Amino acid sequence: MTDKHGKSLIVFLSPAGTTRRAARVIAETLEARGRPVSLLDMARTRSDMEAAISGLDPGDCLWVGSPVYANRALPPVLDFIDRLSGIGGVCAVPLHDLALPLREKGFRLLGGAKVMALHSMMWSCEDPLGGGRPNEEDEAEIRRLTGRVLEKMDAGTDAGLTAEDLNYQSPERQALFHTRSLKKTKAMMPPMVLDPEACTSCGLCVDGCPTNNITLEPVLGLGTDCLLCCNCVRLCHEGAIRNDVFQVIEGRIRAFAADYDEPAVTRIFS
Ligand SMILES: Cc1cc2nc3c(=O)[nH]c(=O)nc-3n(C[C@H](O)[C@H](O)[C@H](O)COP(=O)(O)O)c2cc1C
Ligand code: SF4
Ligand code: SF4
Repeated sequence: MTDKHGKSLIVFLSPAGTTRRAARVIAETLEARGRPVSLLDMARTRSDMEAAISGLDPGDCLWVGSPVYANRALPPVLDFIDRLSGIGGVCAVPLHDLALPLREKGFRLLGGAKVMALHSMMWSCEDPLGGGRPNEEDEAEIRRLTGRVLEKMDAGTDAGLTAEDLNYQSPERQALFHTRSLKKTKAMMPPMVLDPEACTSCGLCVDGCPTNNITLEPVLGLGTDCLLCCNCVRLCHEGAIRNDVFQVIEGRIRAFAADYDEPAVTRIFS
C-alpha cells in the first residue's frame, strides 16, 4: 500500500564510502520523520534494482547518488538512469550531474546537492583535498535538503526544478567536462600491475570492489569493468595489486583543483 506521503528509494554507488555516508544521512533524516525509505547500494544489490524501481508509485521519490570521476557521474549510475523507463508522477533528487538525464526521463526534480568530500585518490597523501569532509556542517546541509524535499513531496504540486537549476558550473566548464570521460582518463593512466604470487587470497579486494571486477581463481585477475577507484590497491596489504599512477597523480589533481577554484562547500539546490 502507498504511504500517504510517498516512500523514498535511495540508489547510490560509492567506491570509497562518502556517497554512502550522504545517502545514510538522508535515510536517517527520513526515518526520523517517520517516512518509509529503502537504501540500494549498486555495488551490493544489483539483482534487487529492477524490483525496487518497479515498486515505485506516483508520489514516491527516487534519490540518486554518485561520486564525480573525471568530472562526470560514474558510468554505472548513468547507465542505471538510462535503463529507467518513465515512471509517472515519481520525483527525483539527484545528488550530482544526473539531473538532465532524469529530467529527460520525465522525473520531476525536487532538489539536488553537491557534497564536499575527501578526494578518494589521495588517501595516502598528506593533507589530501577535502580531508575530513563531509563534516558536521556538510551533513547539516544534506539534512536541510532532505527537509525541503519532504515539504515538496507533501505539497505535491510543485512543478519541480529544471536541470539547469542544478547546474552550478559555467557553460565553458560544462562544455569542457562533456569532452571528458572515465574511459578517456583510464586510457591515459598506467595499467594496474598484478603480482599473483604475492596474493594470499584474503578476499579483501574482492569485497571492496564496487563492480565485482576481481577474480582470485585460478589466479588473481581483473575483468574489464574497472572504475579506477583503486579500492583494491588501497586494501591490498601484500602489494599484489598496484598502480604507478600515485607517483604522478597528486600534482595533477592539485593543479586541476587550483585551476577550477571551486568553493569548498556543500551546496544544496531545492
Ligand atoms: C578515478 C577517480 C577520478 C576522480 N575524478 C574526480 C573529478 O574529476 N572531480 C572531483 O571533484 N573528484 C574526483 N574524484 C574524487 C571523488 O569524486 C571523491 O573522492 C568522492 O568523494 C568519492 O566518492 P565515494 O567516497 O562515494 O567513492 C575522483 C576519484 C577517483 C578515484
Ligand atoms: S587483497 Fe591482495 S592479497 Fe588479498 S585477495 Fe586481494 S590481491 Fe590477494
Ligand atoms: S578492480 Fe580495483 S580499481 Fe577497479 S573497480 Fe575494482 S576495486 Fe576499483
